[in-house]
Amino acid sequence: MRLQNKKAIVTGGAGGIGRATSLAFAAEGASVAVVDLNADAAEAVAEEIRAAGGTAIALAADVSSEADIERVVASVVDELGGIDVVFNNAGIIRRTTAVETTVEEWDRVFGVNVRAIFLMCKHVVPIMAANGGGSIVNTGSGWGLKGGGQAISYCASKGAVVNMTRALAIDHGPQGIRVNSVNPGDVDTGMLRDEAKQLGQDQAGFLAEAAERPLNRMGQPSEIAAAVVWLASDESSYVTGSALVVDGGGIA
Ligand code: NAI
Repeated sequence: MRLQNKKAIVTGGAGGIGRATSLAFAAEGASVAVVDLNADAAEAVAEEIRAAGGTAIALAADVSSEADIERVVASVVDELGGIDVVFNNAGIIRRTTAVETTVEEWDRVFGVNVRAIFLMCKHVVPIMAANGGGSIVNTGSGWGLKGGGQAISYCASKGAVVNMTRALAIDHGPQGIRVNSVNPGDVDTGMLRDEAKQLGQDQAGFLAEAAERPLNRMGQPSEIAAAVVWLASDESSYVTGSALVVDGGGIA
């Protein structure tokens, strides 16, 4: 019970990594706010937690909207009684080069992957600071560290997540707030399948290629969740500003 009595927000909580982390947080004793654009799927995850005896609420929101973030933060404080942990995990990918990317697509990717984290921190940090601290984990990507092909807006946005995490850690460490990024390699979720579709590639072939790394397989959402639980918990009390890579050795 490493998160006993903690109140946690998980954005993108209805997706592959977000759902696994919401369940893992709840299993460690946290009350969880499952935040997602997909209201029904968020409710299903919250219900799954409640059915297992945990505490969870579902909140429908577009995390790129400041009004939605303000509503989410107010609801969580009201309904769960505070905020100790935030997992900024909602994300989208567009598999295009700079030449193929429209300005609208670029702005949308940055809105969801980058602005949302800024907005959440803007509104959550004062609450955590008043409470003596907290832990924020942001989802970067291996491609935020080393780059990748045909995903210019995504790679740029995830690079921003990694460095924004360091800047947040510097600014808010003195307030007892730790901020780290988790950087997955290819994880078996809907996003990966959608990428194959965007690229017009055969799904089985795309997934087989994703498994080409030292551990010889894709990651499972629960393996990212395990790393996030550690970063969220007091077990990582001297860790801040770090970029934890969880990718089966793909970065090497
Ligand atoms: P996913 O597609 O299963 O989940 C993403 C979730 O975010 C979905 O439930 C979606 O509804 C939600 N979402 C999208 N836009 C939103 C918005 N504007 N407001 C609120 N919610 C929104 O994908 P997955 O794989 O679980 O991705 C989670 C994070 O992990 C993302 O940030 C992604 O970039 C990152 N990541 C994933 C990798 C992978 O191989 N699956 C590898 C590296 C990073």
